[in-house]
Amino acid sequence: MTAAEKSPDACFRTAVVPAAGLGTRFLPATKTVPKELLPVVDTPGIELVAGEAADSGARRLVIVTSPGKDGVVAHFVEDLVLEHKLEERGKFQLLEKVRRAPGLLDVTSVVQDEPKGLGHAVAQAERVLDDDEDAIAVLLPDDLVLPRGVLDVMCRVRRKRGGSVLCAIDVPKDQVSSYGVFEVEAVPDAVNPNVLKVNGMVEKPAMEDAPSTFAAAGRYILDRAVFDALRRIEPGAGGELQLTDAISLMIAEGHPVHVVVHRGARHDLGNPGGYLRAAVDIALDSDEYGPALREWLEQRLSPDWAPQLTQYE
Ligand code: UTP
Repeated sequence: MTAAEKSPDACFRTAVVPAAGLGTRFLPATKTVPKELLPVVDTPGIELVAGEAADSGARRLVIVTSPGKDGVVAHFVEDLVLEHKLEERGKFQLLEKVRRAPGLLDVTSVVQDEPKGLGHAVAQAERVLDDDEDAIAVLLPDDLVLPRGVLDVMCRVRRKRGGSVLCAIDVPKDQVSSYGVFEVEAVPDAVNPNVLKVNGMVEKPAMEDAPSTFAAAGRYILDRAVFDALRRIEPGAGGELQLTDAISLMIAEGHPVHVVVHRGARHDLGNPGGYLRAAVDIALDSDEYGPALREWLEQRLSPDWAPQLTQYE
């Protein structure tokens, strides 16, 4: 099935995946391995996100990368030598897995010379868009949003209400200061109670200042007007150009912005704790790894569990 057949209502052709950050929360692994390539069970996070974009009707993936992070783009290039070896050895299941990433989408990369913030990373994508593209999807490869499908709902909201549409998760109040948090109001004629109008956005507020517990979850459908807003904002903390500031400017100028509250799971692959939860969550659902992992976890979590110590003379 082609992307267009899967999701005929897609409101974007290009999915932008910013992958030029330093990944400091994942050091030392990210000293040489880009965090986007760390495997969630057996598949790099960026491939999972690209699959989500393809399922929602994207045709092209624009990866924002940094000098020296070529491996991220290479993951989407066919490796005919490897494919031939797997074929010769009759490893057809592995062959299918290896062919998956190159077959998903047309991949283009743009380079962000220095990590000057998420807004600056997104701005780099403008130069490769076609003139008739009036919106883009942005997917953060750190964020796994499960089950898939929230982009489809977000596109329906854009069709009905115009403007830009973001994804939110409802987080515990004591965690708001780790997120971009939305100031929201109900939409009077909304059929879906999980669609809210956004009146403002604050990056990492103190708990007592947070306007709500609805936090940005790494999925955005942005009107092309975002590029103009990104040109007009000043760098914020750490000299970084914040996407949040560009969205706040658009809201202040009357651009409609809505959120869809995702009620499923969301994992942060950008830190070891969240990454582990994602791997366990996905592995438990897998026919290949789930049963053995579940059995071992039950033993490991049982009060009777004790490590077997080997005695050495
Ligand atoms: P993060 O802030 O979570 O990623 O940005 P980071 O900077 O790599 O992580 P830490 O904090 O040092 O551990 C969210 C996404 O935006 C991208 C990152 O690659 C990540 O996918 N990003 C961030 C850029 O592409 N460029 C930037 O300048 C900043």
